[in-house]
Amino acid sequence: MKPKIAVLPGDGIGPEVTKAALRVLEACLPFEAREGLVGGAAIDATGSALPAETLALCRDSTLVFLGAVGGPKWDAGPVRPEAGLLGLRKALDVYANLRPARYLGLPTPLKEGLARHADILVVRELSSGVYFGEPRFLGEHEAYNTWRQTADEVRRVAHVAFKLARRRRKHVTSVDKANVLEASRLWRRVVIEIAAEYPDVTLEHRYVDAASFEILRAPHQFDVIVTDNLFGDILSDEAAAVAGSIGVLPSASLGPGPGLYEPIHGAAPDIAGKGIANPTGAILTVGLMLEHAFRRPQMARAVESAAIAALREQRTPDVGGHATSEQVTDAVLKHLQWSRWSTDTEEEAVPAEWGV
Ligand code: NAD
Ligand code: IPM
Ligand code: MN
Repeated sequence: MKPKIAVLPGDGIGPEVTKAALRVLEACLPFEAREGLVGGAAIDATGSALPAETLALCRDSTLVFLGAVGGPKWDAGPVRPEAGLLGLRKALDVYANLRPARYLGLPTPLKEGLARHADILVVRELSSGVYFGEPRFLGEHEAYNTWRQTADEVRRVAHVAFKLARRRRKHVTSVDKANVLEASRLWRRVVIEIAAEYPDVTLEHRYVDAASFEILRAPHQFDVIVTDNLFGDILSDEAAAVAGSIGVLPSASLGPGPGLYEPIHGAAPDIAGKGIANPTGAILTVGLMLEHAFRRPQMARAVESAAIAALREQRTPDVGGHATSEQVTDAVLKHLQWSRWSTDTEEEAVPAEWGV
């Protein structure tokens, strides 16, 4: 039976980049795509940012592929498109958000010599923290949120980070604000407790302010960064500096059920509809699907290599070129055509029992 993919294009450039990325996935393996509404598009059609029908579709799928949500049209409310994405993450319980950022041969705001050796995997806790804590309130003269963190929430994402570090350079940096926040103090204590189960992996702790400077000063020192929901949101966009654009970073959000796959960038209303959105983040997201949902590591590598090779020939304006999304995608498909992945083996794949 063909795997079922729930495709939620969303808003702004979301539909443009998902279309491009699905062309690449079609060149890899057979699947059945079923579209659903989310974000502003869903608000316009149904009044809800995450209609029950969309959630049912996602739950009945092998994985969910989302473009982006949001835009000025809906910023004044009453319902915000972002609520659809957050609701989906919560409902699917996708607690571990993997956001790899590495040098892709593109111009970067960092000195090239610094970016060249950077290969960072941000593992962002996605189901809790200040994003979801209750109570929360917005009044005329006062507003507040609650930063709540449980030990179990930290434990499960820490395990994912240490396991993935074992497949990489075996170094974990845990980022928090334990000098100020209680939620961070619990975070740090639990990460230390979990680290004892992975004696072959080194662990260091950084405060978020210092870490954000270090990512720009010496990005090559980081391997896996594990951090909470809010810091992970910020640091992953910052880590995109090593790649050159937030338009080239993919992400995979994993939990007990179907995974949620999305590029890290947003709806980019400033360039939506112009055909110039960088599809690389969405295409590399297909690579993460192949790695984690389909467990086809060689096919995943082939997609990554084709995306990187394409960037040598065709670049959208955000990375210094004049190409359209379609030209970039055509170039990826041309390079992919020459790839071979017949030797994919179970041994190389991410172990199924990890649930990542
Ligand atoms: P953004 O990521 O949409 O855009 C920031 C800048 O990066 C813009 O100049 C944009 O043109 C550029 N950019 C982003 N992706 C690009 C791509 N693929 N190719 C070329 N350029 C690209 O972030 P923002 O402007 O802060 O937010 C816009 C809207 O998107 C907001 O409503 C926000 O809430 C939403 N958002 C959604 C997601 C998501 O759906 N996962 C992520 C971030 C922001
Ligand atoms: C992201 C986005 C989202 C987040 C928003 C749109 C809710 O910025 O996926 O990085 O903050 O998680
Ligand atoms: Mn973000």
